[in-house]
Amino acid sequence: MTRLDARAARRATREDRRVVLHAHRAGYLALRGITRLGRVVRVPGLGVVVSDAARMREILLDPGTYSKVGPGGSDRLWTPIIGPRGLLNMDGAEHAHLRRKLTPLFSQKFLRSIVDEVLTPEMDGFVAAVARHEDVDVVTVIERAAALIICRLTGYPEDDAAAQLARAREILGFVTLTTKSFTDAQLAVIHEKLAVLNASTRTAYRAAAPGTVPALMRAEGITEDDTVAVVTAMIVAGTETIVSFAPRFTNLVVESGHLDHLARHPEDVPAAVAEAMRVTVPSPVMIRSVLRDDRVAGVRVRAGERIILANIFACARAGDFDPSRPVPKEMRQLWFGAGAHFCIGMPLATLEAEVFATALARAAEAGRIGVRARVRKQRTMAASYSRLVIRAERPA
Ligand code: HEM
Repeated sequence: MTRLDARAARRATREDRRVVLHAHRAGYLALRGITRLGRVVRVPGLGVVVSDAARMREILLDPGTYSKVGPGGSDRLWTPIIGPRGLLNMDGAEHAHLRRKLTPLFSQKFLRSIVDEVLTPEMDGFVAAVARHEDVDVVTVIERAAALIICRLTGYPEDDAAAQLARAREILGFVTLTTKSFTDAQLAVIHEKLAVLNASTRTAYRAAAPGTVPALMRAEGITEDDTVAVVTAMIVAGTETIVSFAPRFTNLVVESGHLDHLARHPEDVPAAVAEAMRVTVPSPVMIRSVLRDDRVAGVRVRAGERIILANIFACARAGDFDPSRPVPKEMRQLWFGAGAHFCIGMPLATLEAEVFATALARAAEAGRIGVRARVRKQRTMAASYSRLVIRAERPA
């Protein structure tokens, strides 16, 4: 593999750090300061902050000691929205049972249909616009793809995809890195938006609308209410993450110069995507509640305490963007979590990311791609750009 220019890779990585800083200024600076003090640090009033990949994985693989449900756990945030059975706020046997039923959902057949019917037409349009040497906003491209996928998940008509995405975003717009609960006024707005998303899920479920997730879940024997909860969880967990990733990936590979390599070697796209996931960590932090006293790297943690798994800082310990070497073993896939709550949407997320990255590599055949405009998002849950305009230079 072509070696990267280390200075360009450093500049690209630093720009990605600025994207995160813009999204969560106070939370990011505080956590960065804490993680510089050590890999496991107790912060009175906040909890125990862990930023070591191996320790994080041990915690994630020990659900008997560290749970998503309990004091300080993230269930307090999500249960009023998705109801008590939305996967990401469950634990134990019931959680395992529901997950088992969902496993066949992201089958090769289903993923293939998403690629063929949703992503390929969108990406062909994207590559053609770049080939015409137009200015193309990558954020618009990935948002539209994400919106169409929400329609698939909820069974909503695709001609109104943008409205469905806007509703999903408004729900997520209330969450920041430090949100512990919602106000009554916020909950009222969230429930109003959710009512529309949930109504289309119920309609698709009842009609067993072919090719939609609600119909697939019904075929697995999952109840209507559980389907609504899980689909909502998928929208919450799976929309802004991919909309965060694709523009940041674009900036990393363009600014580091790696896109030129990918244009010649599209077979290296999966490695570039994995390394960019390590650098960007679109879901930057995970939270657990301690169920029984334990020790993490010598630090005592007590039942009832909160554990903050600062994933983005743990993964940053491997340094700047460098797809020429494998992701360090202890970090592998950690951006999707580990153990019982490991991202159930990982096959879909990886597919979306790789299909997008392949399209970008194909687009680069039209000429060297440069970033023409870049607007970072301010104060959002999912760090990203609100605009990232690229253009392929005309060959001299
Ligand atoms: C780049 C994209 C994505 C990233 C980085 C990501 C990351 C994560 C992480 C870190 C977790 C574990 C959280 C924890 O243990 O506390 C998680 C869980 C989850 N993700 Fe993803 N995700 C992505 C895309 C998606 C997509 C596309 C979907 C759905 C279609 C999805 C659905 C879910 C669900 C439902 C859970 C909860 C699973 C459970 O609690 O059992 N995610 N994700």
